[in-house]
Amino acid sequence: MSATKLEYSKDWSKFKGDVVVFILPEQPVFESKFKYISSVFEDLKAVGDFQGKDGETVVLYGNQLVDFPGLAKRMMFVGIGKVDEDDTIQRDKIRQAGGLIARQAAKVKAKEITLVVQDIETLKIVDIAEPLLEGVLLGDYRFLKYKTVTDETEDEPYQGLETVFLCASSMTKVVKKSLDRARLSAECGKIARDMANEPGNGWTPSHFASYAKELAKSYSLSCTVLDKKDMVKLGMGGILGVSQGSKEAPKLVILDYSPKKARKTFLMVGKGLTFDSGGVSLKPGSGMEDMKYDMCGGAAVMSAMKAVAEEQPDVRVVAIIPSTDNMAGGGAIKPGDIITHYGGITSEVINTDAEGRLILADALAYGIDKYTPDYVVDLATLTGAVIIALGHHHTGVIGNSDYLVDLVSRAGNKVGEPVWRLPLTEEYRKQIKSDVADIKNVGGRPAGTITAAAYLEKFVGKTPWLHLDIAGTAWNFTEKNYIPKGPSGTGTRTLIELIRSLG
Ligand code: BES
Ligand code: ZN
Ligand code: ZN
Repeated sequence: MSATKLEYSKDWSKFKGDVVVFILPEQPVFESKFKYISSVFEDLKAVGDFQGKDGETVVLYGNQLVDFPGLAKRMMFVGIGKVDEDDTIQRDKIRQAGGLIARQAAKVKAKEITLVVQDIETLKIVDIAEPLLEGVLLGDYRFLKYKTVTDETEDEPYQGLETVFLCASSMTKVVKKSLDRARLSAECGKIARDMANEPGNGWTPSHFASYAKELAKSYSLSCTVLDKKDMVKLGMGGILGVSQGSKEAPKLVILDYSPKKARKTFLMVGKGLTFDSGGVSLKPGSGMEDMKYDMCGGAAVMSAMKAVAEEQPDVRVVAIIPSTDNMAGGGAIKPGDIITHYGGITSEVINTDAEGRLILADALAYGIDKYTPDYVVDLATLTGAVIIALGHHHTGVIGNSDYLVDLVSRAGNKVGEPVWRLPLTEEYRKQIKSDVADIKNVGGRPAGTITAAAYLEKFVGKTPWLHLDIAGTAWNFTEKNYIPKGPSGTGTRTLIELIRSLG
């Protein structure tokens, strides 16, 4: 993935690239310098081709642009409908318009586009520019690494946008800062998608480790990678147990951003299961290939760390990714086996496919012990049950801190990744009591998402903690223009926004 260049300009009428784009509401009011655009809009409206409704687009070519000979090859209008009072809905509408622009740009194989941004009714340039650019950049995503052009008659695949010019009458510092934020968030979301798109043999625990080492080299982060023998010394029976059926070496990857004057410490833990076959409790074959996405929590945490390293908040941020695959080799863990987690809690493994909680338990207990964080968030594609509960439209959140739930809800709404809280009370904790060990890794079919969280809760003690179950939102997400088919990168931008709200 090569990063799209971002440039600012004030005068769109001099732009000579592929497409110049105007974002218009229904019944737009035009500034006098947009007189020509206004007359084009009226013509289009008169013939019923474009009214500025949400999701509408129209492309105009050369000789329709008589007043601007030598201007861009094409002009595009994109409608955003009526301005919505709800900020969450409005931001996502603009982000989706951005995604639509990227899709239209792909149709004409555009490399350079200009986005003309102006105030729209109560919306100011700053309210529009950030989600718009984020939507364009996120929508302009494709994973071509493994595509080869074998047939000579085939065209080279379109590689996406090279440069996006942003054109606004007042390019203030505040606007530029918001555009930088959008660029960074989108870039990190796309990095998470790249990791997730890699197959199980292209993204292993060692790949998480080398990516983290690279990040640490480029920024002021420190990186520690625990391997199998470290895990044995530390007594991490969860990750060791899950990995014992595989030839692939497990890693526990830690990145630490520790500024001099940190006001708080924030720990984030992401499930980095690079392939989940289910182990001895083998999954059905159909659709099993999607289990390469079982590392999406780890991808979100790792890529969010890049944004942290660039933005340098005055909060210490530690990222931990327990990473292994879950295979059914001869040495694999078996139903009924009892493991001992870091810290000493014992667990009866009822189902080897409920492995995410086993690796997260060690990582949470270790992270809390070692870094004494003020806040902990974990992200995981943890349960199929969350898809039954919430479908693909909300990430499930469970936690012991109303404050953190509120923070993550705001962050999720702001970036278009909404979350929905589920309860965690005594009755659910009872479901995971074991007859032979402290706990068991499955609490029956009812409330599978909550009992999984009850398991994790055992390892966080009193530390304010949130668990995000992204099994429904990490891929096959709600149809959105800025989320192409495949992994969504969900969680990355929520984490970045959450840390911004702490910093
Ligand atoms: N990685 C899966 C959860 C999952 C399922 C994610 C479908 C995305 C789509 C997890 O490790 C798992 O297999 N969980 C089991 C738990 C069960 C055995 C208690 C599940 O949800 O079926
Ligand atoms: Zn599983
Ligand atoms: Zn899993």
